[in-house]
Amino acid sequence: CGIVGYVGNDNTAEVLLESLSRLEYRGYDSAGVALVCNGSLQVIRSYGRIFNLRQKMPHGIMATMGIGHTRWATHGKPSEANAHPHRDCTGRIAVVHNGIIENYKELKDMLLARGHTFTSETDTEVVSHLLEDNYTGDMQRALLETVRQLKGSFALAIVNQDEPGKIYAARKDSPMVIGIGEGQYFLASDVTAFLKHTRKALFLEDGDVAILSHEGVRLMDFEGREVFRSIKAIEWDLEAAEKAGYDHFMLKEIHEQPTSLKAAIAGRLDELKGNVNIKEITLTEEQIRNIRHIVIIACGTSYHAGMMGRYVIEELTDLPVSIEIGSEFRYSHFPLDESTLVIAISQSGETADTLAAVKDAMRNGSHVIGITNVVGSTLSREANDIIYMLSGPEIGVAATKTFTAQVVVMYMIAIMLARARGSISIGKASKLIRAIKTLPQKSQLVLDMEAKIAETASLFSKSGCFFLVGRHLNFPVALEGALKIKEISYVMSEGFAAGELKHGPLALLTTGVPVIAIATESELYDKMVSNIREIKARDATVIAVASESNRSVEQVADLAIRVPDSCEYISPILSSIVLQLFAYYVALARGCPIDKPRNLAKSVTVE
Ligand code: G6P
Repeated sequence: CGIVGYVGNDNTAEVLLESLSRLEYRGYDSAGVALVCNGSLQVIRSYGRIFNLRQKMPHGIMATMGIGHTRWATHGKPSEANAHPHRDCTGRIAVVHNGIIENYKELKDMLLARGHTFTSETDTEVVSHLLEDNYTGDMQRALLETVRQLKGSFALAIVNQDEPGKIYAARKDSPMVIGIGEGQYFLASDVTAFLKHTRKALFLEDGDVAILSHEGVRLMDFEGREVFRSIKAIEWDLEAAEKAGYDHFMLKEIHEQPTSLKAAIAGRLDELKGNVNIKEITLTEEQIRNIRHIVIIACGTSYHAGMMGRYVIEELTDLPVSIEIGSEFRYSHFPLDESTLVIAISQSGETADTLAAVKDAMRNGSHVIGITNVVGSTLSREANDIIYMLSGPEIGVAATKTFTAQVVVMYMIAIMLARARGSISIGKASKLIRAIKTLPQKSQLVLDMEAKIAETASLFSKSGCFFLVGRHLNFPVALEGALKIKEISYVMSEGFAAGELKHGPLALLTTGVPVIAIATESELYDKMVSNIREIKARDATVIAVASESNRSVEQVADLAIRVPDSCEYISPILSSIVLQLFAYYVALARGCPIDKPRNLAKSVTVE
């Protein structure tokens, strides 16, 4: 979900609508605003996208401040009744909320017993009634009392008609940032909402309460004690956050990969010395030598990047590496201690399951390295060390440029750990670093083949399913390719380790079923060719992703898409870009809403 708020002299309704549009990628099943107009509260809500909300906005409505919300349903189905803001019984207090109020049931029962009536199925509505219950003429006191009664996660923005000059905000385990403009103040779930107006941002921390008014911003903790947070300058500009002429954010972001890969490696590689300098990692060489086990934790696309990291760390170091899905890890009994290094990967830095796992790891004394793209995100503040991917904002729900950046960051971590542990020679490290440095240019060569990839995708855009297969590093590439296709084109697609086909998936292969086989040059190329033969024996159609100089793959496959020749660490990243474009063009041909696939959100801040 996305929260916005505005205090200033501009057209408040317009500022809020525009900010909400920028946050639509966080959720878009309903939206609403609460505006303070001449001392009275007006709440306008709608089902669906911000566009619908705009249609409902009374013409020329003038307000001096307001809050807004775009929702991704958690409690209660997407509907206007469940859209935020939610009000108390008197209609004087309006609340927007991200997160989950875990004790909402008991609070609701208590409030019902005290005579409150509810109009929605949401957990958020209890907050407005609780505020009403606690309000005796002093909103600050009521809010402090309320936040202390809430369990779970929340970013809250609140207006009270009786105190029309102020927006109240509170944060616990859900992101919230304040934009500081010239005589105007913004509140948002992330900075893209207000970048057009200001680049000065003040990130709230867990346990912070903020009061925004025309006079400025006051911050305090849940006990009402004043706190100080420094203002950060955000370097992203608005153009970077917009589509820059591409039809979709996803396509723009795919095309940004030469730049984002360059940004991820800039200043971090020393080819001569065979060293990687990730200064954000604070572990000493001795601490690195004392590591006994590495656990990588992530969800979705980030999980696939983690899988790739696992192969490489295990190959370059002498360490065993586990890769765990956040939602599984948090309820497992994984043994963690000081000798375990945890690497948490999250593009948004806000994925609740990943964050819960991080907290668990830290409680057990493990050192946590976070990899994220979002400065000021929760992960960036919780992990011991944080490595930014520096990819720039990613708006398309389906991750693309941040995936390849995550993979390259994992490679760099692998080299750094291996060098510190003496498990890799300078020569081998230098060679790998040299190969990594070719990525920006080679990814551009893949992008230059867009027309050919689009043409191939269009041949298969009506297929009812896709199979993707690969071995070793190309196995997660197959999983990620399948995820991209299913996310944005709604076509059933599954990735498999090619060696596993014979243990089940072969039963599904019949005439004409499209199978994408990642068969770039590597030690396992011949094994892949055998797998392709197995697939062809069932009359399925094989689209091979092969290396440029490979002249023989067509003897077994029906079609081939080439990627530039490169070592077996680099070609999987290039193949991923091929699959991103393939998924994009299948989705485009099918007329899907590529940047905002149904039922999915970019940032999943709930369990
Ligand atoms: C959501 C997004 C995916 C993403 C996953 C993990 O499901 O739709 O694209 O991979 O969350 O997100 P994270 O921000 O933790 O990488």
